Amino acid sequence: MSRVAIVTGGTRGIGEAISIRLKDMGMTVAANYAGNDVKAGEFTARTGIRAYKWNVADHEACQEAVTRIAGELGPVEVLVNNAGITRDGTMLKMTYEMWKEVIDVNLGGCFNMAKAVFGGMRERGFGRIVNIGSINGQAGQYGQVNYAAAKSGIHGFTKALAQEGAKFGITVNAIAPGYIDTEMVAAVPRDVLDKIVAKIPVGRLGHAEEIARGVGFLCSDDAGFITGSTMSINGGQHMY
Ligand code: CAA
Repeated sequence: MSRVAIVTGGTRGIGEAISIRLKDMGMTVAANYAGNDVKAGEFTARTGIRAYKWNVADHEACQEAVTRIAGELGPVEVLVNNAGITRDGTMLKMTYEMWKEVIDVNLGGCFNMAKAVFGGMRERGFGRIVNIGSINGQAGQYGQVNYAAAKSGIHGFTKALAQEGAKFGITVNAIAPGYIDTEMVAAVPRDVLDKIVAKIPVGRLGHAEEIARGVGFLCSDDAGFITGSTMSINGGQHMY
């Protein structure tokens, strides 16, 4: 039977590429999104992948969504925590709301979703959880104390949960993307982005599909001996 996968933030950007990749691998994918109904509708029409709307920062909503998806599609065996936002600004300009929103969505979302699926995975003796971290969680980034803290937190979260899941057949890994040609990166001021790209040894931005291929591998049955690891996919920008 086809494995059921949830991809948070799965209708746009890197998440869209991950949803498509997992579907192409034969999984039944539920793509979560938070707000953009138009993009989600287009995504479903284009890919045939069902989209489900809820906010991953809302603990109760995550529990309800997982129950609903399990009822409609089957028990959730694969979770990709990809949903993420930026609210960039230097410390003097960053408000408490900018800090909290990013921590709640990017890091809180990982807890909320893992909490909702982990018990079932444990009972069934199989699970794949992949958390999308970031080069900026590994190396830090000027103007991103919120995002870097959340993404760095994801890397610690991954290693801790991997230890808890290992003896139950649940692997927990992270991917740390570098700068990928998505809308999120397109929002970085052009002059700032040019300087960043100049420091990428491969000499270009990455493509969402290049992240999705790594996620697909970590979600596959072939990756059963890989857990607690972070795969950096960043064109050589940060070798860690
Ligand atoms: N290192 C050192 N100094 C820097 C710097 C850096 N990386 N970036 C900017 N500065 C300096 C500038 O030179 C400037 O100095 P002066 O005033 O002496 O000239 C000062 O900081 C202010 O810079 P800005 O004019 O850029 O300030 P701002 O308040 O308008 O904007 C900012 C600040 C929001 C951080 C803006 O620089 C920015 O958007 N930077 C990009 C942040 C970034 O990389 N975000 C990644 C988003 S994509 C993502 O996060 C996905 C992923 O996982 C990779």
